[in-house]
Amino acid sequence: MCGIVGYIGGGSAKRIIIDGLKRLEYRGYDSSGIALAANGRIAVEKTVGRIAALEDRMAGMDLDGHAGIGHTRWATHGAPSDANAHPHTSADGEIAIVHNGIIENYLELREWLSGEHGVPFRSETDSEVVAHLIRLYYEGDLLDAVFRAVGRMRGAYAIGAMAASEPDRIVAVRKDAPLIAGLGEDCNFLASDIPALLKYARTIYLLENNETVLVTRNEVSIFNERREKVKRDVYHVTWDADAAEKGGHDHFMIKEIYEQPKGISDTMGRRLGADGGIRLDGISLARRELERIERVYIVACGTAYHAGLVGKYAIERLAGMPVEVDVASEFRYREPFVNDRTLFICISQSGETLDTLEALREAKRRGARALSVVNVVGSSVARESDDVFYTWAGPEIAVASTKAYTTQLVCMYLLALYMGRELGRLGDGEYARLVDELGRAPGRIESILAQEKRVQEIAKKIYRSEQVFFIGRGPDASVALEGSLKLKEISYINSFAIAAGELKHGTIALIEQDTLVIALATQSRLAGKLLSNIEEVKARGARVISLAMEGDANVERQSDETIFIPRCADEVAPLLAVVPLQLLAYHIAKLRGCDIDKPKNLAKSVTVE
Ligand code: M6R
Repeated sequence: MCGIVGYIGGGSAKRIIIDGLKRLEYRGYDSSGIALAANGRIAVEKTVGRIAALEDRMAGMDLDGHAGIGHTRWATHGAPSDANAHPHTSADGEIAIVHNGIIENYLELREWLSGEHGVPFRSETDSEVVAHLIRLYYEGDLLDAVFRAVGRMRGAYAIGAMAASEPDRIVAVRKDAPLIAGLGEDCNFLASDIPALLKYARTIYLLENNETVLVTRNEVSIFNERREKVKRDVYHVTWDADAAEKGGHDHFMIKEIYEQPKGISDTMGRRLGADGGIRLDGISLARRELERIERVYIVACGTAYHAGLVGKYAIERLAGMPVEVDVASEFRYREPFVNDRTLFICISQSGETLDTLEALREAKRRGARALSVVNVVGSSVARESDDVFYTWAGPEIAVASTKAYTTQLVCMYLLALYMGRELGRLGDGEYARLVDELGRAPGRIESILAQEKRVQEIAKKIYRSEQVFFIGRGPDASVALEGSLKLKEISYINSFAIAAGELKHGTIALIEQDTLVIALATQSRLAGKLLSNIEEVKARGARVISLAMEGDANVERQSDETIFIPRCADEVAPLLAVVPLQLLAYHIAKLRGCDIDKPKNLAKSVTVE
């Protein structure tokens, strides 16, 4: 996720900004850069790769100043590269900016700036328009130019700007992206996040939406949209650096669980038009192309594979197309029926999982059209695919994948709905109903997160178990696999997931007095059948914890404990159902004293076979 650090004062801007950027490294980034005001100009250094690479680059240079802005970039528009890294500058070098967020009307602005004003563009980013726009309005007053430029922009942004002619000022503005100003002694700061400043400033101003801030060595002034000065109480940070990186949470995993409503909104927001239509980021899948497709293959590993299983239900049910799902390490060594009439979808958070990458290469060798659902922009899977449909979960740091899974589900639903509508297999009413259901998911997940205490209480009762069975039917069977994986990877409990109907074909032999069974019962269509499975295991003495739709008294009656999720359409229930299971796994692992963010034997990105 992008990060911003700004400094103005008597010290070395270079040292302080680089130090601040390092404190944001945990958030993930692919490039970094710094702009320093010195000797009547703004010097910019930026590079793809780690901050250490930026430091190496600057090592031999006699480059420093008393004011500057720095940035870590997590690519969205344009691959990770030196040119796309921030800061961006105006053509004459007068203005330098750093930007977090997305300028939604950047194409329009870019055309206008280059067409009407002959502005040359040097990057593929949306952010570069900001530098040129501010320059266009700059007449010696940076604050005024930023106000005027912002009036032309749509989207989400936190922007820091400097002008070579005013080395004693930094101007910043925010809308739907965090920004803070820190108060130091004989110096002041700007940052996107508290951890960047902790070493230097614990007294800060939290900026609100549509506010602009003017930062000088001795003063920080905040203005509203009408350019009026606003008074803001200072906020005193009491967190330590470690807690601050985790946003006050104990672990990245729980932070990322809580980030799901936002990740889902971001992933949907860019694709769902006000007219209810779905835009596939320019991916061409018109009816004619879809009708040529005989089969869809979804291939992935681990959690991403589980998202693919839910995707299969969605595409088969909503688009009426046959779908095969496979784990990448198996797909590669089979003789899959893949040809030029196959739509091959691979799913990967990191985009670097070797098995997935090799499966993608194999599918392409066989002539398939390859579409990837990936979180990391510019990753290998993204680069080698014909089309990319990004999840916008932001960087996922915990090894146990959570927000990547739910955003992957959103992508699968959007693809399925789009295909179903394009192929005429989904009526307008049903399409609108499911789009509406998707739109409600973030709010419903918030209400599940509000039940964390209840889940924690249940975790206290069961955390000593050494064996757990997850059961479910239909999409719940896939969510059961994900719930089970989450639990085993961070708590080391021997956990096993099975389609509930399969129990009686063997696994039920293992159910005895006090065996823990987690039953997923969110599918109204299959409620009666699942209830029978709960009864089967209860009859053998199992302790049953169920997950059910709000108000399902039958399941509640049959279970020892029930966690409810808000009522929703069966099709989208996996988006909600997984959240209590993530929370349960987290709290069980915590009670067992496990190293939650770095479970033993596991790596975040598996780049070996
Ligand atoms: O980066 P990817 O999505 O390709 O990673 C796939 C799996 O390695 C990953 O989902 C893994 O199973 C996680 N540890 C699950 O929490």
